Parts: sequence; structure tokens; C-alpha cells
Amino acid sequence: MTRVLYPGSFDPVHNGHIEIITTAATLFDSVVVAAMVNTTKDGVFQLDDREEMLTSSVANLPNVEVKLFSGLVVDLAKELSADFIVKGLRAVSDFENELQMAQMNNAASGIHTLFIPSASKSSFLASKFIRDFAKWGGDISGMVPDAVAARLKEQYAGD
Ligand code: PNS
Repeated sequence: MTRVLYPGSFDPVHNGHIEIITTAATLFDSVVVAAMVNTTKDGVFQLDDREEMLTSSVANLPNVEVKLFSGLVVDLAKELSADFIVKGLRAVSDFENELQMAQMNNAASGIHTLFIPSASKSSFLASKFIRDFAKWGGDISGMVPDAVAARLKEQYAGD
């Protein structure tokens, strides 16, 4: 059985993430998606909110489990006995940072990171743009799962 860990901020999860999760779920026996802290970004949603949105968005995928974790990816990977870390790549601009994280995680624990490229229909999606569109009343239908669209509407209702 091959188990992979897909970590990210998921602030919030969007359809580009869902595409990567769905692909990973077809390639591997078990996928753990973890909502984690990225210290280089200011979080908007609390980790438990992000976990809740993820959980409702992947309910149709029986071999996918969602967790929240504050700590190092390599520690969670060890705790889960994950065989690989999985990351999505949207564009070359993602690659430099992702490669460095993959190398750092490999140096620290020996775990390898496998990259799954985004389909072109999803490669422009980014949580920060989704949040901006939602905040200013833009149309995000088709970019996020329905439950996430509803949660974003609630989040920015007073703005
Ligand atoms: O969706 P993101 O923001 O690109 O995800 C980045 C994330 C959360 C995977 C990264 O910041 C991370 O791994 N955070 C956990 C702490 C950690 O392990 N840091 C060392 C990375 S080399």
C-alpha cells in the first residue's frame, strides 16, 4: 500500500487543489491532505476552518483523509508513515520554491516529493486571488467547491 501526504495552506481549497487530490487518489492507495501553516503567508481562515472546507470538498473520494497539523511536514509524514510527499505545480514560477522545499525535506528525513502538474484549466487558480475576488464580490463559481464559495460569501459578508 502506498500512502502519500499532500500538504498545503488551502486558505481556502480551490478546484486546482481538488484536481491534484483527485489525481493523487487515482495514483496512490491512500492520500492524506493536510492543512498546514505557511509562515511566509498571513492566514485568513483558521486551520480548523480550512480542514472543514477540505473535508466537505473531498467527501466523494474514499481513499482521501483530511488533517490539520501545526508543525513540520517531515514530522507529519513520519507520523503517518507516508511514502511520499505530493505537491502540485502550476507553472515554472512554482518550481523554484517547491524544489527547494523538496530538497530540504529530503535532506531532513529522506522522504521524496513527487510533483503533479496542474491541467491548464486550473493553472491560474490561487487561493489569494480567490479571496480577493470573493472579498470584492467577483464571480468565483467554477473555481472552488460550492461549500467553499458559500463559506467565502459568509466570511466577506460585512465588507
Ligand atoms: O500551499 P502552500 O502555502 O504553498 O503550502 C506550503 C506549506 C504549508 C506546505 C509549507 O509552508 C510547509 O511545509 N509548512 C509546514 C512547515 C514546514 O515543514 N516547513 C519547512 C518546509 S521546507
